[in-house]
Amino acid sequence: MSADRTSPESLPRVGVFICECGDKISGVVDVEELCRCAARLPGVVHAVHEPYPCSRDGMLRMQHAIEELNLERVLVAGCAPRLVEKLFRRVARTVNLEAGYLNIANIREGAAYIHAADPEAALNKALTILEMSVARLTTTHAARVHTGQVTRAALILGSGLSGLTAALALAEQGIPVTVVEPAEQAGENLPDLSASTRELTRERLQTALNHPRIKILTRARLTAVQGHPGEYEAWVQQRGQTSIVTAGAIIVANVAHPKSLGSSHWFDRSRVKTQVEFEQELVNAAESGTPSGFDRVVMIFCAEEAQRQRCSRVCCATGIRQALRVKKLNPNAEITVLFRDLYLGAPGSPHEADLLQARKQGITFFRYRRDHPPVIGNDTVDVLDTLTGEPVCLPFERVVMTMPLVPEDDTRSLAALLGLPQDEDGFLAEPRVRLRPGRYVDPGIYVLGSAQHPADTTEALFQAYLTSARAVRFLNQENILVDTPVAEIDATLCTGCGNCPQVCPTYAIALERRDGILSVSEVDALRCIGCGNCVVVCPVKAITLPGWDNVEIPAQISAALMPENFKPGEPHILVLACEWSAAGAAELAGSRRADLPENAVLLRMNCSARFDPYHILWAFLQGADGVLLGACPPGECHYGMGNLYARERVEVLKKELSAHGMDPRRLRLEFLSVADGLLFARIVNEFMEELEGRMTDRGQMPTGVKIPVRRESPSTPFPA
Ligand code: FES
Repeated sequence: MSADRTSPESLPRVGVFICECGDKISGVVDVEELCRCAARLPGVVHAVHEPYPCSRDGMLRMQHAIEELNLERVLVAGCAPRLVEKLFRRVARTVNLEAGYLNIANIREGAAYIHAADPEAALNKALTILEMSVARLTTTHAARVHTGQVTRAALILGSGLSGLTAALALAEQGIPVTVVEPAEQAGENLPDLSASTRELTRERLQTALNHPRIKILTRARLTAVQGHPGEYEAWVQQRGQTSIVTAGAIIVANVAHPKSLGSSHWFDRSRVKTQVEFEQELVNAAESGTPSGFDRVVMIFCAEEAQRQRCSRVCCATGIRQALRVKKLNPNAEITVLFRDLYLGAPGSPHEADLLQARKQGITFFRYRRDHPPVIGNDTVDVLDTLTGEPVCLPFERVVMTMPLVPEDDTRSLAALLGLPQDEDGFLAEPRVRLRPGRYVDPGIYVLGSAQHPADTTEALFQAYLTSARAVRFLNQENILVDTPVAEIDATLCTGCGNCPQVCPTYAIALERRDGILSVSEVDALRCIGCGNCVVVCPVKAITLPGWDNVEIPAQISAALMPENFKPGEPHILVLACEWSAAGAAELAGSRRADLPENAVLLRMNCSARFDPYHILWAFLQGADGVLLGACPPGECHYGMGNLYARERVEVLKKELSAHGMDPRRLRLEFLSVADGLLFARIVNEFMEELEGRMTDRGQMPTGVKIPVRRESPSTPFPA
């Protein structure tokens, strides 16, 4: 750790601007007193309060103050960062202040709102928040700015309807496109058997084949990828030859295909067919004009349990169309459709008309229950009537089963090559479908169509246009600018242990050989998304993440746990909250005026992946009675799996705590979404009560170390 960053003489000049927010803050918190206290904090050379710093005049005054007083760091204490951060960043840019040297502290929801009935507690909490923010600002260092080139070309994997549509949309914008298709023919193997979809795909394929900016490689597959967003190099193997394709963006548009029936069953396969096999029979019968075996047809929709959980989107419409074709070939045919639910696309779609037509023609539709699926016997299909509860036997000549759509066989290897998450069925799942639909962790990689989940024609086309618009926007940048914090590795400290590349969600870290003998980790700044997971696993602390490093976080913890900031006789809780979830929930709790304990202090973190066991131990050493970690729910971490790593670390740390005589219940991890404001308040209050119940008469926790440390300054060094 550099002495410069902690010695009081060399502290940067900090300006504190306190917002009264009309009277929303000043109506509860004594802002005059808060200002006086802020002015006494180490490094602070200017502290003012005013009604609205976010107003035009307020921002102008702030700008003048920064210039005239030569302020090197700026703290704005007011409302939630997500509301005003962008605004104040503009001020920072005007005066050439690095983004990392501006901090927004939320004293409205975090102090004024939650302690509205107790001005003293509100003032105390606001001051604690200010102390933490100043501690962070005086110890932080700015993130380096990284730039990268953009190769104006795209690589598309898969030539289904969505892949071809995206290829044409990109090519029309002047972007060269290479399409890699594993099959013999492009535009084949579509999951949707409808004639209109096939016709549309054929048309798009013809246009693509004749397009000067589109190159289609069939019987080809991706074997390796290197590079970062804007500049990828992809190794493509085609008929034994390997070529390198350079592209700025990669679009995965693999098609899904219906699962085959396999051989682990006892059906008479000459009479039990899948929907795809039956399609071929219908084509043959139409050509020969001699339909046989179609007198009694039973169709079973959602024939596999998996499909009943996830709709395959295209099978119901296909099944109904096939039933109508059977009727056309053999008007006397008895057709029964057994279904769980019918998916026919958006209201008013042509599939609805097909359904009405089918019912008019006497095709019977029979809903079955999930707990009583149809059973195929030698000559009958047995099913339970959902209305009467009576068993029904349906004699058949042909049974048609709709099988679930499954991802292509090479999806697993693609996922590994491109660092994409897969869901339980093997599709390339969007990491944060609710908050960032259609976006993956690596900004140069896109997934669409049935590679993501089974999609019908409308969805596939919609996704193709949406994704190609995003990709065009990305590829039209002259270069990529990364000014957000990314991991930095001190090569002189790195021992090349290889821990960090293993936990990096974007494969941004690689071990490089130095002088032929020593390996050190290197970060590709354009791939790094700044989760901080690597910082935690580095055993020699050679990695830092500006804004969230091993000096700033402990300095904030020390500031947060100053004894004079707490109500005596009550437990002290430190809440380490992921800013994408728990911190938002805390804000919501504040705006709902939830009652939160005075002795609970919140520290925002970028992701739970950055929760370092050392920080938690440091908090206990500094006097915390309980530490609550708030992370995104599983599957919703902004950085992939940070929350799962956090869970694992908490479990290990709990065991360590109890092995060393500390009560592991003093540490708690909760998964919360931004909408869980009241739940957040309930959890904190329960935790406080729990800790209170375990305190001794002397006001100390019965187990563990409670060292009454009086910090000299909030920037007390952290034992790295
Ligand atoms: Fe919230 Fe990772 S972003 S836990």
